Amino acid sequence: MLVEKNVPLQPLNTFHIVAKAHALVRIRQEDDLRAVIADPLWRTEAKLVLGGGSNMVLTGDVKPLVLKVEIKGMRLVGESSKAFIVEAGGGENWHEFVVWTLKQGYPGLENMALIPGTVGAAPVQNIGAYGVELQDRFDTLDAMDLNTGQVFTLNAAQCAFGYRDSVFKHGGTQSDGAHQSLGLKGRAMILRVRFALPKIWKPVLGYADIEKKMSEQACTTPTALQIFDWVCAIRRAKLPDPAIIGNVGSFFKNPTVSLEQCADIIARDPKVVHYRMDDGTVKLAAGWLIDSCGWKGKTVGQAGVYEKQALVLVNKGAGVDGAGATGGEVMTLARAIQTSVYERFGIRLEIEPVVV
Ligand code: EPU
Repeated sequence: MLVEKNVPLQPLNTFHIVAKAHALVRIRQEDDLRAVIADPLWRTEAKLVLGGGSNMVLTGDVKPLVLKVEIKGMRLVGESSKAFIVEAGGGENWHEFVVWTLKQGYPGLENMALIPGTVGAAPVQNIGAYGVELQDRFDTLDAMDLNTGQVFTLNAAQCAFGYRDSVFKHGGTQSDGAHQSLGLKGRAMILRVRFALPKIWKPVLGYADIEKKMSEQACTTPTALQIFDWVCAIRRAKLPDPAIIGNVGSFFKNPTVSLEQCADIIARDPKVVHYRMDDGTVKLAAGWLIDSCGWKGKTVGQAGVYEKQALVLVNKGAGVDGAGATGGEVMTLARAIQTSVYERFGIRLEIEPVVV
């Protein structure tokens, strides 16, 4: 087992924040993780699972042992009358996996093209974009218990997926009134994820940006590849490329409010961007709320609000090699935004990435 010491984490997090891991082990196969768990030196040490580092804000050097997921492999593992079951290793790059599925003739993930990060991190926050969430295409996943080394399989219900949420984001015991479940935050590593990709594919349209592309190109029946190209173009136009400008995508979740609360806000701000949900609540566009408080382009030190999309915080410092923003600057900016949105709209914005 190779334990690397004092490893620079700047190239391993998409915010490009400078920090070090006191110790890091690369997990290329299940047995690498078993070796860590069996090792008397590391067995009881705190551990941090690191995927693509695309949903994480580092606020200092990382003391827990960093387990860098590098498990690879993409294959068809089965099929039912309705779907192809496709599996990918937790360390595969998400976008490369989406490209591979399309090349193999298994459409279904195209709306989630170009989301930064790894396959193993995707279920943690139930990634989603342009009308499709991971849970809509999810079959099962295998994970290893970091204490016992046991491998277990979870279906969608056991993952307790929600909007940018899952059992992997919560610690302790959770209860929804009827059921109790144990949160898996910090307790497991996702090894492999399986997806059920529909044999009878239907495009997921309806999202404003996609509708716009359809009318621009006078196209009413797009193929999966066309949607893939559109999603890539839309994302490239409004979201910063983390390879060039450090960021973790949306920094806050879009908040949900009751119809009454929404009516109050509309009475004061008729332009508020909002979407009615199936359960009768209303989702508000956090980007609009932040934007209308005047935050676009504002900075704290080297941390800034992206000029083209106020929901994204960026590292204004140099790219991967420079010093750039500290995690403290990012969090100071985030808290100032939360305060100003709360003072104006009475809404508490929830931070989306994991703060380490
Ligand atoms: N808006 C503004 N000003 C801004 C930003 C947005 O007025 O600065 C308005 C837009 O004009 C639009 C609305 O807010 O009317 C929503 O914006 P957008 O369509 O860009 O989507 P979003 O709600 O900001 C969400 C996801 C993204 C995902 C897109 C597309 C969350 C937290 N974010 O963003 O996911 O790509 O929808 O489906 O749900 C991510 O999670 O990292 C992410 C990028």
